[in-house]
Formats: sequence, C-alpha cells, structure tokens
Amino acid sequence: MSPLFLLLLACSTDFEHPERAFAEAPASDAPLHPVTIHAPPTLGAVDAVGTDIHGTPLAVSCDTCHGGSDPLAAANANPEEMHGDLVLNHGPISCESCHSKDRLGLHLADGTELEFGDAMQLCGQCHGPQKRDYDKGSHGGMTGYWDLRQGPRERNHCLDCHGAHAPQIKPVKPAAPPIDRGRVQGEEH
Ligand code: HEC
Ligand code: HEC
Ligand code: HEC
Ligand code: HEC
Repeated sequence: MSPLFLLLLACSTDFEHPERAFAEAPASDAPLHPVTIHAPPTLGAVDAVGTDIHGTPLAVSCDTCHGGSDPLAAANANPEEMHGDLVLNHGPISCESCHSKDRLGLHLADGTELEFGDAMQLCGQCHGPQKRDYDKGSHGGMTGYWDLRQGPRERNHCLDCHGAHAPQIKPVKPAAPPIDRGRVQGEEH
C-alpha cells in the first residue's frame, strides 16, 4: 500500500479519544468576557509588617498623617523615621513628579489628579512605548483566555512587577544546568 494512501486513511478516521477533540468554537457574536487588571493589595498605602486575619497584607493609609484637618499628625511624626528607608532610584525625578501636594494621591504632568488606583495612567505618561506594548498584550503578561468569547482574562498591574520608586528589573543570574543523574559520565548525546 502506498504511504500516501495510508495517510489518507488515517486522516479519514475519527479521533481515537473523542473527549480530546477540540470543543466547538463559540459563535462569532458570542458575548465577550471581561478583562480585569489585578491591583496590588496595598496600592497607595504604606506597607506594614504582617497580615490581618483574612491574610491581607497590613498597610497604613496616607491620610493617617497627611492632608487631614489635624496637621499635627504629620508634624509629630519624624519624616526620616517615616519614609527614611524609601529609596528613590527612578531617573532624575522627584517625589513631586508623581505625588500630589497633599500626598493623598498622584498627579499627571498637567496637574490632573489621579487616585492611586489609576497609577498605570501615570506610568503610561512617561513610558508610552511600554504602555502601548502593554495595551497590545506584548508587555506585562496575562492569564486566562486569548479568545474572550471563551472566558475572562486577567492582566498584571505595572506595579505587580515594577516598584514605583526603584522600577528596574534586576538582571537574572544564569543558573547552572540541572544535573542529569540518569546520564552516564562521558556518554555522547
Ligand atoms: C505615620 C505618618 C505618615 C504616614 C502614614 C505617611 N506619611 Fe508621608 N510623610 C510623613 C511626614 C512626617 C513627612 C515629612 C513632612 C511633610 O512633608 O509633610 C512625610 C513626607 C512625605 C512626602 C515628601 C517627602 C519629601 O522628601 O519631600 C511624600 C511624597 C509622602 N510623605 C508621601 C506619603 C504617601 C504617599 C503616604 C501613603 C502611602 C504617606 N506619605 C504616609 C508622615 C507620614
Ligand atoms: C514615578 C512616580 C513616583 C515617584 C517619583 C515617587 N513615588 Fe511614591 N509612589 C508612587 C506610586 C505609584 C505609589 C503607589 C505604589 C504602592 O503603593 O506600592 C507610591 C507609593 C508611595 C508610598 C507608599 C508605599 C510605600 O512604598 O511605602 C510612599 C510612602 C511614597 N510613595 C513616598 C514617596 C516619596 C517620599 C518619594 C520621593 C522620595 C516618592 N514617593 C517618589 C509613585 C512615585
Ligand atoms: C515623570 C516621568 C515618569 C513617570 C511618571 C514614571 N517614570 Fe519610569 N522612568 C522615568 C525616567 C526618567 C526613567 C529613567 C530612564 C533612564 O534612565 O533611561 C525611568 C525608568 C523606568 C524604568 C526602567 C528602569 C531601567 O533602566 O531598567 C522602569 C521599569 C520604569 N521607569 C517604570 C515605571 C513605572 C512602573 C511607573 C509608574 C508607577 C513609572 N515608571 C512612572 C520617568 C518616569
Ligand atoms: C509581568 C511583569 C511586568 C509587568 C506587568 C510590566 N512590566 Fe515592564 N518590564 C518587565 C520586565 C521583566 C522588564 C525587563 C525587560 C528586559 O530587560 O528586556 C520590563 C521592562 C520595562 C521598562 C524598561 C525598558 C525596557 O523595555 O527594558 C519599562 C519602562 C517598563 N517595563 C514599563 C512598564 C509599564 C509602564 C508597565 C505597565 C503598563 C509595565 N512595565 C508592566 C516586566 C513587567
């Protein structure tokens, strides 16, 4: 029998395991599932030590000391003690490039006020190419479905991967290859 004939014969039969056959494609006008952006749990609050009984990381809100009717709260706290260990290593920009005067939120270059929750808009203002790549899905990763007709998708927040104050990704150290214990010493592959 010719090999071509065998191939045609093989193609004409059904799946050997029908349960592994592809699912039916959803209708092209099926409703789309949502795309959500994961928000870091202590976004816009000072990280504290430990977690609450639900396992949520503890954090202190900025208005504990800033912007309240009692300016003494801030005056009494020692700034060195409060934010002294914060390392800013983010190009030649200052706290005021991002934080609003009352410290309760962020602002764009034109003065537009932003909530901490909208921090990605702030990043996008100065990092247009990365924000564009992110919007197209080639920066920042995702989990869930490519085809939103089949299920929802979750995107990472810029701040899931980059610290706001020292955003550099550390170089990855190359690791030694795993030891293959099954391989005989000196054996050729
Ligand atoms: C326990 C009190 C406390 C909390 C909570 C706190 N701060 Fe502060 N912060 C201070 C004090 C005190 C200063 C120094 C005096 C000032 O500038 O008002 C300061 C200064 C700052 C400055 C200016 C630093 C500089 O070098 O000019 C920024 C920006 C700032 N805080 C942001 C924040 C943000 C954002 C939060 C919340 C995520 C926050 N702070 C929470 C006490 C606090
Ligand atoms: C590039 C913009 C940018 C600059 C510059 C910047 N911040 Fe922030 N900062 C942010 C964003 C965005 C957040 C929210 C991220 C978070 O809560 O993890 C934040 C969070 C904070 C917090 C609360 C979270 C934490 O890490 O404790 C404090 C306090 C703070 N900033 C103070 C400062 C101070 C003081 C300076 C200057 C020395 C400064 N920031 C400079 C953008 C900036
Ligand atoms: C006001 C402008 C401004 C804002 C807002 C801003 N950045 Fe930057 N960012 C800079 C500058 C300037 C540099 C330094 C570029 C350089 O050194 O080549 C930089 C560098 C970086 C780098 C690259 C560091 C490296 O060399 O690998 C990352 C990552 C980054 N920023 C992420 C962020 C994120 C995330 C946010 C939002 C929280 C943000 N930036 C907000 C101006 C900004
Ligand atoms: C899943 C993690 C992740 C998320 C989310 C993410 N980044 Fe990055 N980003 C990286 C990594 C990893 C690099 C380093 C790439 C390299 O060295 O080639 C990087 C590099 C960068 C750089 C440095 C320039 C460059 O291309 O090397 C900038 C600026 C940047 N990201 C901005 C952003 C902004 C703005 C967002 C949100 C819109 C964001 N990133 C979201 C992981 C992430």
